[in-house]
Amino acid sequence: ECHAIILAGGSGTRLWPLSRNLLPKQLLVLGGKTTLLQQTVSRVLEAFEPSKIWVITNEEHVFEVRKQVAVIDPAIEAQVLAEPVGRNTLPAIMLGLDKVVEANPKALAAVFPSDHLVRDTEAWVNDLVRGAKLAAQEQFVTFGVGPSKPETGYGYITLGEELGDGAYAVDGFVEKPDYARAEKFLREGSHFWNSGMFLFSAKKFLTQVAKCEPVLWEWWMARDEVPLLQGYREIPDISVDYGVVEKIDNIAVIKAGFDWDDLGSWEAMYRLGDKDENGNVIQGDVLAMDCTNSLLISEGGKLAAVGLSDMIMVQTRDATLSCPMEQVQSVRDVVDTLKAEG
Ligand code: GDD
Ligand code: MG
Repeated sequence: ECHAIILAGGSGTRLWPLSRNLLPKQLLVLGGKTTLLQQTVSRVLEAFEPSKIWVITNEEHVFEVRKQVAVIDPAIEAQVLAEPVGRNTLPAIMLGLDKVVEANPKALAAVFPSDHLVRDTEAWVNDLVRGAKLAAQEQFVTFGVGPSKPETGYGYITLGEELGDGAYAVDGFVEKPDYARAEKFLREGSHFWNSGMFLFSAKKFLTQVAKCEPVLWEWWMARDEVPLLQGYREIPDISVDYGVVEKIDNIAVIKAGFDWDDLGSWEAMYRLGDKDENGNVIQGDVLAMDCTNSLLISEGGKLAAVGLSDMIMVQTRDATLSCPMEQVQSVRDVVDTLKAEG
């Protein structure tokens, strides 16, 4: 028996001004006809029954999340759990694991981010099946993507010995390295990107929490007396990568046979978008004259662009971004600066 835990509570910032606290990346239509969350649920439904799928989000977004998943399958609406406040991915996964072990203490669980683009569902299901075999042998399974550029926004998995069938033992993790290090990993061919998908036995995962995260373990073990959501504000903020993945033993990585994009920046949106004859990706009410290789999006009012090359312009009702394609990484700094200004 294997359950799916879909993480849908993050608040993306790199796609500002489209993604914000109000509408994070997973709730937007980006690269497809439905939102990234809806695409994730559709994909997960290819491999799991609705009663074994758990969607974890926060109170702020639960209404929108329920509405979006109900469109895909009305049975999923009741499977959505809402955190009173964000405490990062480890506590969110433990909320899901509560449901999983209630159904079957020996079950496997698979964790899926809700804000990635995967198009080849068949290959994705194949990899899951391979992963489930390893997880049934007490391996903690991660899914790695062969890197194509020195991306600093991802975690990297250091490859160990080959286990056969496209799987490797894991020698270590490096979360979001600096550019020089990422470039070195790429050159050496010794690392995969961490896709953020994991597959494991619930029991193995929880044993690790018991070992290294005593506060979280106490909170979880007391759940018969104090419901998990009631104590949620009191627990620490810890990512699953830091709290469990980087420390657990017997970790394997499966080289993903599916296409994968984290859609972490406007550059990715441009790269994956449908281009017109001038190489522009255009969405919404946009008038483009003499523009080439630009991303032009308007969600609020008319956007007129003249003579732009290699530019990003994103207009919403109350904010506009205008930025050369090659400086796209600076959007993070824009968000930080705006936050600091309040
Ligand atoms: N329910 C819930 N609650 N979900 C959350 C929370 C939370 O507090 N925080 C994040 N999430 C969700 C996000 O919506 C996303 O789907 C997933 O969990 C991963 O969180 P991110 O915040 O997007 O992580 P990241 O992108 O910085 O890093 C992770 O993903 C990379 C791949 O995209 C790491 O696992 C990296 O190693 C990995 O490369
Ligand atoms: Mg992410």
